[in-house]
Amino acid sequence: MAKTAKKTSSKKPAVAPSSGLPIDIGISAKDRAAVVAELSRTLADTYTLYLMTHNFHWNVTGPMFSTLHQLFMTQYTETWQALDAIAERIRALGHYAPGTYAEYARLSSIAEPAAVPSAEDMLRMLVDGNEAVARTARRAFQCADAVNDQPTADLLTQRLDVHEKNAWMLRSLLA
Ligand SMILES: [Fe+2]
Repeated sequence: MAKTAKKTSSKKPAVAPSSGLPIDIGISAKDRAAVVAELSRTLADTYTLYLMTHNFHWNVTGPMFSTLHQLFMTQYTETWQALDAIAERIRALGHYAPGTYAEYARLSSIAEPAAVPSAEDMLRMLVDGNEAVARTARRAFQCADAVNDQPTADLLTQRLDVHEKNAWMLRSLLA
């Protein structure tokens, strides 16, 4: 089966602040840039997982078709909606959000499938993908918590809850 775990990238996301009035919310520019770098990785992982889940909704085959087609739709719909909250938090912190496939490919820790996997391999890849988002979001949470950024920490706590639950549901189908 295809492996989804790319080794953690050491590349730094580009986090040039957007122009406009100065921001004075009690988090220094340096700390906001550090949080944005971690949020950008979380956004890239989340987008990559969203696309993989939608891809598998389209292409799954076999006796589990109906169950998996429906479950994947539930998960990609939720994930799609979460992208907006993550990107808009980056904007509220004074930076531009990454929004191109090139940036997501560079920042994401999730390897994409090279072909259409079997239904079982789709489940394994989605377990791995949800766990990868959880690892990235957890690291981002540590950064946000360390600089007293409660809204980001709250958002990431919600993402951790969802992706750990998704991984449990997908894992349960393989038991
Ligand atoms: Fe559909």
